[in-house]
Amino acid sequence: MKMKLIDTHAHVDMGHYDDDREEVVERALGDETGFINMGLNIDSSKKSVDLAEANEGVYAGVGFHPHEASNFESSDSGRLKQLSQSDSVVAIGEIGLDYYRDNSPREDQREAFRTQLDLACELGLPVSVHNRSSTEDLLRLLKERDELPSGVTHSFFGDYELGMEFIDLGLHLGLSGPLTFDGDDELNRAVKRFPLDHLVLETDCPFLTPVPHRGKRNEPSYVRHVADEVANIKGISREEVAEITTENAMGLFDLNGE
Ligand code: NI
Repeated sequence: MKMKLIDTHAHVDMGHYDDDREEVVERALGDETGFINMGLNIDSSKKSVDLAEANEGVYAGVGFHPHEASNFESSDSGRLKQLSQSDSVVAIGEIGLDYYRDNSPREDQREAFRTQLDLACELGLPVSVHNRSSTEDLLRLLKERDELPSGVTHSFFGDYELGMEFIDLGLHLGLSGPLTFDGDDELNRAVKRFPLDHLVLETDCPFLTPVPHRGKRNEPSYVRHVADEVANIKGISREEVAEITTENAMGLFDLNGE
């Protein structure tokens, strides 16, 4: 199925969609918007795979979110590997570090992150990386490795130099709803300069809802508002942003495009 837009990071398996999940998926696919649903733990990763297997144009990531890192046991790596055997699995995610919430001890977060980076390398899958108030450690853990998977720093925040540092490590930058909020001039200035061929779009739904839906539940079809904002900032057409970011996502996650 040929898609116009790809939301590279969504959580449609979450309880927020229990009443209307099918409609949300249909709205996205009806708008020619595909999406990658990221897992947060084993249960959520399984749900991601089920959702992806049931819907052409929906793909799955499997992984443990840093908030869930204290529940990550050595046997879980094997379970993620088993889940990744499904053709619908295109990423290891959502993985990373979160020193803002600190929902899991930092040492557990680092351990789960390292193990899942290893898994991504072993499986040849890209990663979707969460980073909140943990940039220094995240960069250290990435740089100390012999081998790095490809992937996305999801919902990128920061300045031009930081973005280029991630790009130099072979990662793409995922842009999301907060770009549409007023006030983050630093991020806007950075996005203006980032090479379009290293950008992908995402929602992180149900969170980070873009304007004009800010304050309500987010969903994959709203990724078009992020595309509009990138077009606006870069002074190019929405079509160009859609075409190139979709091409980037399809190449990076090896999505089946026919
Ligand atoms: Ni997320």
